[in-house]
Amino acid sequence: MKRLSRSIEWEILGKDELEGDDLMLVNAAMEATSGSWSPYSGFKVGAAVLLDDRTVITGSNQENAAYPSGLCAERTALFAAGHAHPGKAVTALAIAARNDNGFTAQPITPCGACRQVLAETEQRGGRPIRFLFYGTEGTMLIEGGTGSILPFCFGADSMK
Ligand code: THU
Repeated sequence: MKRLSRSIEWEILGKDELEGDDLMLVNAAMEATSGSWSPYSGFKVGAAVLLDDRTVITGSNQENAAYPSGLCAERTALFAAGHAHPGKAVTALAIAARNDNGFTAQPITPCGACRQVLAETEQRGGRPIRFLFYGTEGTMLIEGGTGSILPFCFGADSMK
């Protein structure tokens, strides 16, 4: 028998501790919530993706009366980036969300389906994606890449 374990690390940063591209990307994610079409949940999510040449692509959740037809903010941004800039690596992703009471106090983290897409995006780019999950009480910073948010991921290599 072998017993194995793995651990993940993250930091919580106050808004005044964010700087440079991190601050710019979190602000872009907050602004992107304005594009949300979310009449069913009332939950506006914004995502901002940073590419290796510092291009920023944003997205927001787009809902539909046929609920499963909608799409999360993260995948809206990731697929837009993949389409418009297929040769560029995604280096960071920021997300923010608000409801009628304002931005969430705690950061929201991507759903499982978005994590799966992030894992393949990271593999495609060949470098770890930096994550910034915004909340008014602090932003979660994860530098360990998608392995930190989706361990034991299924990917193209799993089929070899
Ligand atoms: N949503 C996102 O866009 N991203 C997340 O990380 C979590 C959930 C959206 C989907 C749906 O439009 C609304 O938030 C409520 O689940």
